Amino acid sequence: MKDEVLKIKSNSLEEIKRCKTLQELNDCKVKYLGKKGELTTVLRSMGNLSTEERPIIGSLVNQIRDELNFSFEEKQKELEKEELLIKLKTENIDVTEPSKKINLGSLHPITQIIDEVSEVFLGMGYKIADGPEVEKSIYNFDKLNTPPDHPARDIQDTFYITDDIVLRSQTSPVQARVMEEQKPPIKIICPGTVYRSDNVDSTHSPVFHQVEGLVIDKNISMTDLKGTLEMFAKKCLGENTKIRFRPHHFPFTEPSAEADVSCFVCGGKGCRVCKNEGWIELLGCGMVHPNVLKNCGIDPEEYSGFAFGFGVERIAMAKFGIEDMRLLFENDIRFLKQF
Ligand code: DAH
Repeated sequence: MKDEVLKIKSNSLEEIKRCKTLQELNDCKVKYLGKKGELTTVLRSMGNLSTEERPIIGSLVNQIRDELNFSFEEKQKELEKEELLIKLKTENIDVTEPSKKINLGSLHPITQIIDEVSEVFLGMGYKIADGPEVEKSIYNFDKLNTPPDHPARDIQDTFYITDDIVLRSQTSPVQARVMEEQKPPIKIICPGTVYRSDNVDSTHSPVFHQVEGLVIDKNISMTDLKGTLEMFAKKCLGENTKIRFRPHHFPFTEPSAEADVSCFVCGGKGCRVCKNEGWIELLGCGMVHPNVLKNCGIDPEEYSGFAFGFGVERIAMAKFGIEDMRLLFENDIRFLKQF
């Protein structure tokens, strides 16, 4: 029995030495010291020994088990060290390696146009104003000289939240808010989202965008309006852009006009974008109606001003050659990526 135990000892020490990986070492440990391991089996069979032999073999086996455990531990440390060294050698991190490409989004065409327009007006000394999209109808209509029976107030055109609160149908209410809050001189634009109860088709959407402009000061006249809009058209749509004014009616301006620009796609010769007319309808404008000034606490005897408002989608569509407005709102990345 003693010889057998010593043989197990020398065999296992030999094997420990030969182990090259932690896995091999672990297998080896199971083979000798595991539940069914060789040394454990010897301990289990000690019942067969004589009473004299039993304590001698018993203490020998225990001693060998301790020695083996020590050897296993030492070998384990050695192998762990080796594996760490190999890892350090092979898994080095190159901190100068370029990182993985991140897919950045891009500005939506509507945002691009609003940014461009804002840039032009900021350059002319305008400030950017803001107002609520859920608006009191008194600002959306009444203060803007839009009488209660005006067709624009019709429930068919405007989204009513309550009798007195609407989703603003235009950015013009910001004019009234600014005039109430600030003393002239006033020079603002207000880009923003507006809502109308229109059915969706290739040129209509119930949600769209406008840019409003307002200038109030002493001695502001129609020539200031024309000069400003001409400058804006040239800067935004190209130096050769021409602008023309047609009489029109808006409740909040008097006189009122609509302004067209020479088609910035074909230069006025006629094309699909301008429907062969050479001109594209751009915006509504006029001299701020004295009633509006009064409604907002500004003396029309002392001050005058002009205002204008235009749709952003129309400019984006003409500029980018987009034929269906729905594309601007579907947010298909394959479409948006092009701009
Ligand atoms: N609010 C008008 C609309 O939505 C556009 C407009 C016309 C704005 C004339 C103005 C203006 O400020 O003076 O159709």
